[in-house]
Amino acid sequence: MRIQWTIDFSVYDEEIDSQHRDLFIIINKLDVAMRQGKAGQEILRVMDFLDQYAAGHFRVEEQQMAEHAFPGLESHRERHAWFRRQLSEIRKKLQSDGPTPDLIILADHLLITWFSNHIRTFDRMLGNFLSERRQAASGREVTVPDIG
Ligand SMILES: [Fe+2]
Repeated sequence: MRIQWTIDFSVYDEEIDSQHRDLFIIINKLDVAMRQGKAGQEILRVMDFLDQYAAGHFRVEEQQMAEHAFPGLESHRERHAWFRRQLSEIRKKLQSDGPTPDLIILADHLLITWFSNHIRTFDRMLGNFLSERRQAASGREVTVPDIG
């Protein structure tokens, strides 16, 4: 297992964390296939699935950002778009050139490095922001007993 979800990856939001865990499961499938020498058969399936899953997952994050007026929305959205462009380039090359070892390694490297950096840095920023907002909101709900 090359990438494992631990608490270090938590962004303090159950929905986002659970989707990140799913992403890691998919990425690891590719890794297992590579070790078994079966990546050539597995990679297109993994990349197609990831493309769909990432689109839905990024939408959830971006909706959260928009809903809570997160100041980093635009740059975060651009990072997601950059990743999806890379994914789509690799998928195109897979279709035209087939699953060459170089392409498989490139895909594996992109998935592991991008997600681990992105989650721990940029998704964490969003997570911190959302939990501060939640704390502030719950603080406002506290009613001070009238002792006068
Ligand atoms: Fe993100």
